[in-house]
Amino acid sequence: MLSALSERRFTMAKKNLDWGNIGFAYHVTDKRYVSNWKDGKWDEGALISNPEVTLNESAGMLQYCQQVFEGMKAYTWEDGSVVCFRPDLNADRMYESAQRIEMPPFPKDQFLDAIDQVVKGNLDWVPPYGSGASLYLRPYEFATGVVIGVKPADEYQFRVFCTPVGPYYKGGATPIAIQVSDFDRAAPRGTGAVKAGLNYAMSLHSSVLAHKAGFAENLYLDPATRTYVEETGGSNAIFVDKAGNLVVPKSPSILPSITRRSIVYLAEHYLHIHVDERPVKYEEIKNFQECGLCGTAAVISPVGRIVNHDDVINLPSGMEKAGPVIGELYDTITGIQSGRIEGPEGWIRHIC
Ligand code: PLP
Ligand code: COI
Repeated sequence: MLSALSERRFTMAKKNLDWGNIGFAYHVTDKRYVSNWKDGKWDEGALISNPEVTLNESAGMLQYCQQVFEGMKAYTWEDGSVVCFRPDLNADRMYESAQRIEMPPFPKDQFLDAIDQVVKGNLDWVPPYGSGASLYLRPYEFATGVVIGVKPADEYQFRVFCTPVGPYYKGGATPIAIQVSDFDRAAPRGTGAVKAGLNYAMSLHSSVLAHKAGFAENLYLDPATRTYVEETGGSNAIFVDKAGNLVVPKSPSILPSITRRSIVYLAEHYLHIHVDERPVKYEEIKNFQECGLCGTAAVISPVGRIVNHDDVINLPSGMEKAGPVIGELYDTITGIQSGRIEGPEGWIRHIC
């Protein structure tokens, strides 16, 4: 008798992609998961093949942007098994995001089961071990119910699709240059701390401007005073000071990044680096040694330069490679995600 794992290896036909050069792009994969909320409850959900979504013209999603989402990754380990990194935290965060946008939260156990099903239904799309790519999973929930007055809809859909991805920022581990946005990403008591599509719509104009000006990303300042560092359009920012401490901006309008929370734990418990989580003034950056952008898509991208109009900050770590602390954090977290380093208990969900 073949074990489930060897049976799968036997029948697997990986897609013929140039895994090392796929970039961060959407591929239509084989299966996606769908569950609907109607009459006050979620149905049991199922995998389907059709990637298209059909909505009524007055669906709450289309009119008032009632939508929340998550981003997470599955990885192939050297033995061929496939795992996911801390998906329970994505389930928790999506639950909270939905509550903030007045949507019925998706049950956390069902969320994890949906992830398992989507990974297993798309095994040929999971990038191989050592390719530098991973399977990006996109759970999301949106209002399908019809509204015309401004109010929450009464029907919703939860879906998960997946697509193989490489590095989010071009250049991968090569440092990037970012600019300080003249626009704000989140309001002081707004939705910055939840993962709702509306926050990303807010950032598109400044994102286009940043790319046109040759920058990889925008760094946003606190919307109330524009003196503190918040985060970027798609990642949290972390810094290293002259004493080698990890300095992590704290603000109620920053998305609580799972990667950042993991990095803080690893810095303290694996690398014995002191972590200083506090409001960080923009003015302080010129005294820092290193900067990195962290997130599921970004992993940890080193930043070499931060530009705010005429004010140019060249981080001492430079534009050639990551500084030593950001580099060590990167090696540790990617080591855990790819199975080369044993992670803290409960961080890895073995899918198959
Ligand atoms: N901040 C923003 C605005 C993001 O879109 C993301 C991506 O998910 C992050 C931070 C990083 O969060 P995580 O590490 O949970 O992916
Ligand atoms: C993620 O890292 O999962 C995100 O959602 C960020 C997005 C900009 C791709």
